[in-house]
Amino acid sequence: MPNNEKIPFLDLITPHKELEQELASVFQKVMSTAGFVGGPMVENFENEFAAYCDSKYCVGVASGTDAVRFALTAAGVKAGDIVVTVAHTFIATTEAITQAGARLDFVDIDEKTYAMDPKKLQEYFERECYVDRETGRPFHRKLRAPVTAVVPVHIYGQCADMDAILEIATKYKLIVVEDACQAHGAEYFSKKENRWMKAGSMSHAGAFSFYPGKNLGACGEAGAITTNSEEMMRKMKMLRDHGQAKKYYHDIEGYNGRLDSLQAGLLSVKLRHLAKWTRERQAAAAEYGRLLAKVDGVVTPHQPEWSRPVYHLYVIRVADREGLQKHLASEKIDTGIHYPIPLHLQKAYEGFGYKKGDFPVTEKIALEIVSLPMFPQLQPAQQARVAQGVQEFASVSPVH
Ligand SMILES: Cc1ncc(COP(=O)(O)O)c(C=O)c1O
Repeated sequence: MPNNEKIPFLDLITPHKELEQELASVFQKVMSTAGFVGGPMVENFENEFAAYCDSKYCVGVASGTDAVRFALTAAGVKAGDIVVTVAHTFIATTEAITQAGARLDFVDIDEKTYAMDPKKLQEYFERECYVDRETGRPFHRKLRAPVTAVVPVHIYGQCADMDAILEIATKYKLIVVEDACQAHGAEYFSKKENRWMKAGSMSHAGAFSFYPGKNLGACGEAGAITTNSEEMMRKMKMLRDHGQAKKYYHDIEGYNGRLDSLQAGLLSVKLRHLAKWTRERQAAAAEYGRLLAKVDGVVTPHQPEWSRPVYHLYVIRVADREGLQKHLASEKIDTGIHYPIPLHLQKAYEGFGYKKGDFPVTEKIALEIVSLPMFPQLQPAQQARVAQGVQEFASVSPVH
């Protein structure tokens, strides 16, 4: 390609062009059967995705947000509970918590992995809560409510340190729902289990988004929940379908949160390519790592030995993030920021009384992160141009 062509942040056109015939035939099949909602395409995809995630069950839903919310409700989170997560995530994580009726609360992240810091989680229970003698469950002193669940977020496609989080969860009898919306197929080596485990298979449930830009993306909105619990699977199927297990018999009030057949069929086609796309993302990440290793003042992603990330995003840190973005834009290189304002400082959560300084690692990182172009079809020549742009910027501006 000529050297001055724009490098997109994400290329969603090429993979769809490559699979056009297969995808179009799904559309034709749905048209000819008029099976728009539910049916074999949804069930097939659920079985395939459960297998991909080493989970017993998968429940297709309308979005990743629904996935987090239904998982929490099905696991037993109720109105008045407190659910702990991180402020370094997309707001859907906390929307789902609030919409499940709970009060959200945060702990800080780890400075290297950018995911929930288990030490901060442990400190949260020691500092903010007491353990009720009768139930053995933590109760928040100031908020006067039980803390019942924790939502670690596998941010950018890398699992949070689940052994440590699960140990704390067991100690405090917590529900754990993994927000795996960015982490399809990511793996974590559990020392406790002595094996590699897939995102979404390690806790009560894992929530996935198939928003088009995700590693496995629909051609519209879609999501799924994985679980090893038959009871949870049944509850989540009811929640997504107006609380009914049998048509017009509503045992509970639910939602319109189903995965439609067209998206399920399209996802089945794409799922067959996901392992290859993941390898391509991992290779691209390794190439960036090699190219950027010696660039002064650039922090590349940390990959602990217990992690096999799927690089939904490739996020570096620099001191002058805006400057770097401007320079790369002048070289026709698109970048992103995931996410610029930590959730505890968002206007939407003003009423909760959080303030600057509450989660210092989250706040520091939010000022320094830049997401570089990352997608399976990214070419080495494009990566070389991105790295050259970063290098040029680093050499003229003080990045420390
Ligand atoms: C970490 C995280 N959680 C939840 C979601 C919500 O997914 P969706 O947009 O499919 O509702 C997303 C994706 O946008 C996400 O990145």
